[in-house]
Amino acid sequence: MYAMASSSCSSNAPLVRVELPAATPRAREVRVAVHAVGVNPIDWKLRALAPAIRWLNALLGPRGPVVGGIDFAGVVEAVGSKVRGISVGDRVVGAAKFLLGRGSHADTVVVGEHQVCAIPDAIPFDVAGALPVAGDTAWRAVHHYRSIGPTSRVLVLGASGGVGHYAVQIAKHVRLAQLVVGVCSSKNAPLVTGLGADVVLAYDTEDPLAAAVQYGPFDLIVDAVGAYPGSRCHALLARDGRRVIAAYDSPRVLLHALVRPFRSRIIRSAPNGARLRGLVDAVAAGQVKVHIAERFPLADVERAHQLSQTSRSVGKLVLLPRS
Ligand SMILES: NC(=O)c1ccc[n+]([C@@H]2O[C@H](COP(=O)([O-])OP(=O)(O)OC[C@H]3O[C@@H](n4cnc5c(N)ncnc54)[C@H](OP(=O)(O)O)[C@@H]3O)[C@@H](O)[C@H]2O)c1
Repeated sequence: MYAMASSSCSSNAPLVRVELPAATPRAREVRVAVHAVGVNPIDWKLRALAPAIRWLNALLGPRGPVVGGIDFAGVVEAVGSKVRGISVGDRVVGAAKFLLGRGSHADTVVVGEHQVCAIPDAIPFDVAGALPVAGDTAWRAVHHYRSIGPTSRVLVLGASGGVGHYAVQIAKHVRLAQLVVGVCSSKNAPLVTGLGADVVLAYDTEDPLAAAVQYGPFDLIVDAVGAYPGSRCHALLARDGRRVIAAYDSPRVLLHALVRPFRSRIIRSAPNGARLRGLVDAVAAGQVKVHIAERFPLADVERAHQLSQTSRSVGKLVLLPRS
């Protein structure tokens, strides 16, 4: 098998191609031939952790290259002796063990059986591979902290990005929200309208939070940007409304979720087979569509990470290890 791995102990080391022996799955693991890998901001953010992961690996087991990446979709090619309900040849989507340095920037991954979810033949690998991290985040944002229904009003900040474009569709087409307002740049407004947003506010032509007042109060704000002032977001919420924050890199944003009036919640994606089921079914039913901005061969992972780092990619970027 081959993978794109951190080339040295430095935190900003370039990723290089490495050849590795294909691991044999343990009793409750499966080995998957990877056909598509969704790119997420966490992939390049966690590259800084590669030296720590390398050190941990050396401590816990055989030393090896650190392979990043979480999302994947592909075909099961081997199963452990105690795996039930998953067979060789099954098409699956899942999340890899990036914190162990066994990520999905590879043509093969080995993961626990509970980490994968079967996908029907009608869902192509590139579509499925783009789902796990961003899709699970959006799915949980719309279901977990504030359950959305036909009388709900939802505001999505960052509506054209990976998380946001799923959140708009899940709120509108799965939860049947009464009103979905999306905030993005004016160039991406037609895309967000096409996803089902009732109203699109462009942050480069107006103050989107001021413009959003007339469409509120909101039962849920999905914040996939993290740059809008918390107090202004809270002012847009209905009495029991919640702001669910996916983008909480800044300590200020994190703090906002921890102090009174406790109206913001942070959300951490942790996709696994069970949690991906609802989203996969929604994609199969045509309720959620995946917008893929660009596909890259796996060897071009650096280019994909650079594009993701601009925070201007539209929908999802996907790596294709077997193209
Ligand atoms: N907590 C978790 O577990 C979790 C999971 C997934 C993602 N995240 C985080 O959530 C954030 C978004 O992730 P992503 O995958 O959606 O990233 P992404 O695909 O790179 O999308 C970023 C989007 O933000 C939009 N944007 C930038 N500035 C904006 C502004 N001022 N107002 C409205 N939209 C703006 C951009 O849209 P335009 O091009 O239209 O400007 C772009 O489409 C990242 O910080 C990521 O690390 C966290």
